[in-house]
This record gives sequence, C-alpha cells and structure tokens, in this order.
Amino acid sequence: MKFSTILALYASAKILPAMAWPGMKNIMAELEHKLAARQDEVGDGDGTDVEDSDELIGDLVTVGAVTDVAQQIQGVITGSIDGFSSEAYTTTVPAKKSAACAADTCCIWSYIAADMKKKFSGSSGRCNGFARAAVRMGFHDAGAWSKTSTNGGADGSLILAGEISRAENNGLQDIVSWTTSLYSKYKTYGVGMADMIQMAATVATVVCPLGPRIRSYVGRIDNSAPAPDGLLPDVNADAETLIQLFADKTIKTHGLTALIGAHSTSQQRFVNTSRAFDPQDSTPGIWDVNFYNQTLQPASAIPKRVFKFNSDVVLSQHPVVATEWNKFVTDQSDWNEDFSREYVRLSLLGVNNINNLIECTKVLPAAKTTYTPPDKAIILKWLAGQFPKLGKFLDSADKLNSTLLKSLGYTP
Ligand code: HEM
Repeated sequence: MKFSTILALYASAKILPAMAWPGMKNIMAELEHKLAARQDEVGDGDGTDVEDSDELIGDLVTVGAVTDVAQQIQGVITGSIDGFSSEAYTTTVPAKKSAACAADTCCIWSYIAADMKKKFSGSSGRCNGFARAAVRMGFHDAGAWSKTSTNGGADGSLILAGEISRAENNGLQDIVSWTTSLYSKYKTYGVGMADMIQMAATVATVVCPLGPRIRSYVGRIDNSAPAPDGLLPDVNADAETLIQLFADKTIKTHGLTALIGAHSTSQQRFVNTSRAFDPQDSTPGIWDVNFYNQTLQPASAIPKRVFKFNSDVVLSQHPVVATEWNKFVTDQSDWNEDFSREYVRLSLLGVNNINNLIECTKVLPAAKTTYTPPDKAIILKWLAGQFPKLGKFLDSADKLNSTLLKSLGYTP
C-alpha cells in the first residue's frame, strides 16, 4: 500500500470515530504498525524508530542512571548522545609508575592502548589480523549473553573461563594469547580482563582507517565462570534466527545491521579453509562501507576473491534489514555513528555495575578519517585472482611491494 494511502486511511479513521465498524480496531492496529515501519524507513538510529535498540540494560534497569557516566551511557544506548568522541588527553600522560598515574584511572589505559595500537597496525596504514580478531573477540566475550542469562556478557570469561576451546571462537587463539600476555603485564596496576578485551576492540576499530573512536569505559567486573553456550551467531543461520538471537541481547535490527559491518575489515580463514584469508569486501583492513555494497552485488559484479558470508547475504536481503543496509552503502558517517552507539551497548551486555564505570575514551588513538592504500595496484591484482599466496601477507597490513612478490615466486 502506498504511504499516502496509509496516511489518508489513518487520518480519516482517527477523525471519524463515529464511522467505526466491527474490525476497525484491527485495521487501526495494522495502520499504526505500518506507520511505525515507515518511521523506521526514514530512521536515523536515534532511538525513536521501531527498529532502533532502546532497551535499558544492567543496573540502568534496577538502580537507574545515578552517576554522570551512567547517564551518559543511558543517553548513548537510547540514542540521544553520540557513541563516539574525539576527547583526548589535554595534558601529558603521567609516567607509568608515578603517583599521578595511580591517581588517574585512565592513565594506565593510555599505556595499554599504545601497546595495542602498535600491535594492531602495519606499515601500509591498514589494521591487521590482530585488530580484526580483537574486534571479533570483543563481540564474542560480550555477545555470549542474552536477556535470560544469569552470567556471561562483557566479563572477560572468554579468556578467564577458557571459552576459546569452543568451536565458535576458532580463529581467536592468537589474539587471546596476546591479550593474556598484555593482561599479565598490566594486572599489577589493577586492570581487569573484561575491560582489556573491550578496550582492545575499541582501539582496534579506530586503528582501522576510517574507523570510529567509540566511547570506551572501564570498571567491569571479571568472571571466570563460563558464559552460557550457544549464544553466538552461526554463519549458516537464516535471517529470522539471527535477528531473534540479537533481539534477545537487546540489539534490534538497526543495531545488528550496523554491527555486522565489522566484516568490512575481515579476511575469513575457517568458513572456507580452501579460501583462507579471502576478504569479505575488496578493502580488508579498512573500515569502509564497501562491505555493504558488495554483499548486495552478484558475484559477476565484484572481484573474484571477495567471499561473502551466507549470514551477511541473508540479512542484507531481509525486508526489515534491507532499508538500513542500503542506507549504509553510501553513508560512512551514518554507519560509524550507528556502529559506535551499538558497540557501546554490546560492550556493556551483562554488566551490572554501569554506575561504577569510568569513561577512558581519551586514551584511544586519533581516528584516521582518510586513507589511500600505498599498494593499491598489487591488491587489485590479488583481488582479481593473481598472487594467491598474498592473502596471508595482506593480513599483516604491511605494505605489499615487488620484493615480496618476487620472494613468493611471482612476477610483479
Ligand atoms: C550474524 C552475525 C555474525 C556472524 C554469523 C559472524 C560470523 C563470522 C565468521 C564466520 C567469521 C570468520 C571467522 C574466520 O573464519 O576467520 C567472522 C569474522 C569476523 N567477525 Fe563476525 N559474525 C557476526 C557478527 C559479528 C559482529 C556483531 C562483529 C563485531 C561487532 C563481528 C566481527 C567480526 C570480525 C572483525 C571478523 C574478522 C576476523 C578476522 O579477520 O580474523 N562479527 N564473523
């Protein structure tokens, strides 16, 4: 039905109650639903559309937002405050072992974030396999939670309870062992594993060129009890199952559509091992919207090496997801805005002390808002099917050059 027809019917039904007939209640309900859906179509992710996540979580439900930080978080997850920020230290960060550093909760995190930044980028300026794995690790720790869970969520249990042995966490071994060593290096400063995992995800996101600077909080409570099993998505699940799985985590379809864009940076290894390191769009290591466009395209219209996940394809085609998905195709800032808001929510699932958290966004590296690959010509040939052994080297994000190609036996 055309939107103008819906509006006309709705208006006349509201204005002319005297004309009410049996069954009108149902028709009104359907019209209201269609109007809400229409609002959703023009949605801006600000928490007012039916598909925007807006549910409160953790102690925001039980206690309310008492502290300034909790009020800010409530604003972010309900859409009235941006989930990203450019706030940075305005003074020199105190020396690591100084009393001044000990007195500033965020101080030690700026040293941790600096170690992460170094680990997550390569000489090409792109983010590398450790960065991508860190984003996925952040999701797999926090996302192992649902509204009915009594534990799990962003509690560090992915590492502390050995959840790495679960099949769904395959591929996270290297980032888990590196994060464990980083935790050992800094735990005497009182930092927690749950925060370490989520900080790794937000540092990794902004290290990727064009990635947003997501608000980052510390003070979560660690838990070494395993999270409930079976709460992470399956790459072969249908769209309805995936939508319901995320809805049970308080993440509605706009949020899911934004979060899934993390695959923009990805190079899969285990969905199809014969195509290990094949990317999910033609610009792995870059936080751009190519993924949204290329997932919609037929194989003939995208580079041969781009490997689409079935879950991404079915979601992109689902009627409740498609409008938002198409919006992101041409709007990087809209996606970054929505991703940030939704990642803040994700990073706080299962956290029941939101009123005790401290914001440390100021420790994050600066965002890179433009990027030109220095090795584009080589990448284009790889995407077209040449230099098959190159995928693994692209994963390191180091600049690709003719010396490397020759060492692999290729003619540049
Ligand atoms: C429908 C939901 C999702 C499914 C089915 C899914 C599935 C997968 C699979 C199968 C891989 C490839 C792992 C490999 O073979 O190496 C992957 C990679 C990845 N996922 Fe997801 N994912 C989903 C949602 C998310 C979300 C919400 C995030 C983050 C917010 C995320 C972040 C990533 C990242 C960054 C990678 C790349 C890892 C790398 O390159 O090593 N995914 N995902």
